[in-house]
Amino acid sequence: MPFAIEQYLKTRAQAVEDVLNRLLPANLQSPPPIAEAMRYSLLAGGKRIRPILCLATVETLGTDWQSALPAACSIEMIHTYSLIHDDLPAMDNDDYRRGKLTNHKVFGDAIAILAGDGLLTYAFQILSEHAADGMERSMLAIIRELSRASGVQGMIGGQVADIRAEGRKGSKETLEYIHKHKTGDLLTASVRIGAIFAGAAPHELSALTSYADKLGLAFQIQDDILDVVGDQAKLGKQTGVDATLEKMTYPAVYGLQESIRKVRVLTEESFASLAQLPYDTTILRAIADFLVHRES
Ligand code: IPE
Ligand code: IPE
Ligand code: MG
Ligand code: MG
Ligand code: MG
Repeated sequence: MPFAIEQYLKTRAQAVEDVLNRLLPANLQSPPPIAEAMRYSLLAGGKRIRPILCLATVETLGTDWQSALPAACSIEMIHTYSLIHDDLPAMDNDDYRRGKLTNHKVFGDAIAILAGDGLLTYAFQILSEHAADGMERSMLAIIRELSRASGVQGMIGGQVADIRAEGRKGSKETLEYIHKHKTGDLLTASVRIGAIFAGAAPHELSALTSYADKLGLAFQIQDDILDVVGDQAKLGKQTGVDATLEKMTYPAVYGLQESIRKVRVLTEESFASLAQLPYDTTILRAIADFLVHRES
């Protein structure tokens, strides 16, 4: 029987949402409306693909996935912060996200900036508070992964390059830099954090990293494709934004057909990386395959 990926994703997303709701309760001691603004975007749905990749990696390596839920949720907090800031008028100026008005449209720019800052900081608070006895060393390594992937050498670097490339004709290397860093790094970190949590050996970590690097680049190319051909209602965000802002995207540089081909090739390559592992990698394979066909 083929692996029931949709059911798997649904149950894992539900587990992630339950824990997010618990980690960031409505009655969090803080001046209104910051907790409400953070929860507005954090609990607005979304695929939860980063925490799920982390949990799937933990499970693949034979460790209890539920014990990794706080670490997985911290990644989703960073991701959600990046979306809130990405949507701000000074960045992509988007009105809809995850099927709802963007954070700044509801709470105003100042609170949206602070809600993003709040989620970014809270992610590291959660990680440091959930370092179980004996896990301190791996938690330090996890904090290093997450901070590097989201910082100036990772996601922030990619976002800076993305903004600076608007309206310009950049090189293919610049395009790859943008995609690898603004999106790929956090996806790779999600897998690596799961691997570190489960105590992966160096050669296993390296095969999993290669899988995630391919998947991460494919993911952002697919995001670009969906901005051109996707359905706004399914995506929960406006389409056509990249063309309006003259963003450097794969469809803009390579055309749509070649972009679609690249997603397929990268996904095949991600399968090849998994084949190096002495584990049953059905789930990780199914996730990569699901992402090629995603419509949201
Ligand atoms: C959107 O990420 C922004 C990118 C980095 C491409 P997702 O497509 O994972 O968005 P959600 O989390 O499902 O809303
Ligand atoms: C977003 O890239 C990357 C980050 C949020 C770090 P996009 O700007 O393409 O994402 P969408 O299309 O707004 O979701
Ligand atoms: Mg952007
Ligand atoms: Mg955007
Ligand atoms: Mg996009």
